[in-house]
Amino acid sequence: MSVTAHGIAAIEFDEAAIARAVRRLADDLVRDLAGEPFVLVGVLKGALFFTADLARALPTDVDATIDFIAVSSYGKADRSSGEVRLLKDTTESVEGKNVVIVEDIVDNGLTLQYLQRLLAGRNPASLRSCVLLDKPYRRRTDVRVDYVGLTAPDTFIVGYGLDYQEKYRNLPYLARLHDWAFAGEGRE
Ligand code: PRP
Repeated sequence: MSVTAHGIAAIEFDEAAIARAVRRLADDLVRDLAGEPFVLVGVLKGALFFTADLARALPTDVDATIDFIAVSSYGKADRSSGEVRLLKDTTESVEGKNVVIVEDIVDNGLTLQYLQRLLAGRNPASLRSCVLLDKPYRRRTDVRVDYVGLTAPDTFIVGYGLDYQEKYRNLPYLARLHDWAFAGEGRE
């Protein structure tokens, strides 16, 4: 059993639950891509560990490559603006490729919608979205999500790549914070 980090109120999904979800997503991708090569495009920073674990969960004979893109969804103080900025583009072109966007979480959906529009405009052979954590009840757009690992409770979740003010990303589990762990502003 994991010993929780300072500030963690409860573990929502432990390492085993995450691993099961990742395994199922990898199986679904392999089934649907049916032997075609594809590129996993991980969305930094949140999907850092998810992308790595998803890639390692693929059978070794699958023709998969890994790339990363980085976006900043919002200014730190205002999560309501809906402004998405491209911080780092993929290093390889996605044109003509089967692309899988790998996201840690879809909340209001504006980030994923931005990425889908951006990458769809580059003429990929196909474009899919694979998300570890979904908060479907918080959508502000009808963005398409093809693969979902886990449905998150309506609480602020940290760990396994997800942060609160850049902290907690390194935790191996997905967890909820104590109220006192929030330093005043900056969370919704
Ligand atoms: C988070 C998360 C998603 C996005 C989801 O990224 O990693 O990319 O927000 O939110 P949405 O569905 O409401 O648009 P963030 O901008 O916090 O950056 P990070 O991944 O570097 O933590």
